[in-house]
Amino acid sequence: MNVNTTCWTMTEADISEESAALEEAADLLRRGELVAFPTETVYGLGADARNGAAVSAIYEAKGRPSDNPLIVHVASAEQADELVAAMNETERRLAGALWPGALTLVLPCRPGAVDARVTAGLPTVAVRVPDHALARRLIAASGCPIAAPSANRSGRPSPTTAQHVLDDLAGRIAGVVDGGPTGIGLESTVVRVSADGRRIHVLRPGGVTAAALAAASPGAEVVGPGTAELRADEAPASPGVKYAHYAPKGRLTLVSSRAGGAQAAADYIRGELKRLKSLGEVAGVLSYSAERASRCYAAADVVVVCGSEAEGAESIARGLYGALRAFDEAGATAILAETIADDGLGGAVMNRLRKAASGNIMEI
Ligand code: TXA
Ligand code: MG
Repeated sequence: MNVNTTCWTMTEADISEESAALEEAADLLRRGELVAFPTETVYGLGADARNGAAVSAIYEAKGRPSDNPLIVHVASAEQADELVAAMNETERRLAGALWPGALTLVLPCRPGAVDARVTAGLPTVAVRVPDHALARRLIAASGCPIAAPSANRSGRPSPTTAQHVLDDLAGRIAGVVDGGPTGIGLESTVVRVSADGRRIHVLRPGGVTAAALAAASPGAEVVGPGTAELRADEAPASPGVKYAHYAPKGRLTLVSSRAGGAQAAADYIRGELKRLKSLGEVAGVLSYSAERASRCYAAADVVVVCGSEAEGAESIARGLYGALRAFDEAGATAILAETIADDGLGGAVMNRLRKAASGNIMEI
């Protein structure tokens, strides 16, 4: 695979007016090519969801296992209706309240609406309407439902800038629409509603919190990560959840202290840095406080301050994947990460950190 990858840098005018670049990108999608584009969560790698060869090319460009189905992106809830066999009352409420937005609904698929490779042979299809003007205009201009996983090589952190996309996929895809850094920085929340509409199963926590789901659907119970226990026997399959994800190349360890708080964790990290350095490791620290970073982590080879705990989980989510990629660029071989409160959007941040650390957590 060695194609020329075009990068279209979009201006404000391109978003609001006729844009030759967007037309060109839409035309490539129609012709079965792969085009990456920004959404409010992360950059997606798009292809016509009805075109089997184009969908296969997504799996190939990403190096993605073929049993991990793709999210189909549409420009409006009406376009979603064309893909799904039925929606119950709870699903309609969620779509009405939270689309466009970082919510993916897993719904019964209308037979033949998308290529079988999109759904990895499942009878359901995952659908969302992104809350990003460029994404919706590109999808509408293409006239296709657009299958789009995150535009990273499989296993790498999801891309939150066009440069991240190029770092992973240049030479493998036709182009990337550069709309600047994404707003949320973590992927959408993937949910499956029970047939009776009474339970909303969170299959993957993300940009929409459990509280927002509950507020949008009075009467339905939200279950899954960060909420009430999901019973194993009723856990609906989400194939993607079993794969290692988001991992930097260095060994990542999360350091958390329930009893001692942030300072106790920082003291432990400071001690660990000495040990790692004596072993010849290139040691990195992921922190959410510039003050703590300069006070405690001077011994590290690379410190990345991601967002700010004072500004909240939103700022940390926005910077997280860029931070994980920065450790790779610095050649970090061992990374210690502070943790944050596991609720609201912080729950999604911690979910990604735990996966990136493959469960390697130091509780002190
Ligand atoms: O924010 C996002 O969701 C981004 C942007 C580009 O929209 N997309 C994204 O796609 O994160 P991807 O492919 O990296 O993750 C899709 C997730 C996977 O965990 C996959 O297993 C799950 O959605 N999924 C897709 N179709 C499914 C289905 N029919 N049933 C259950 N899970 C499904
Ligand atoms: Mg992904």
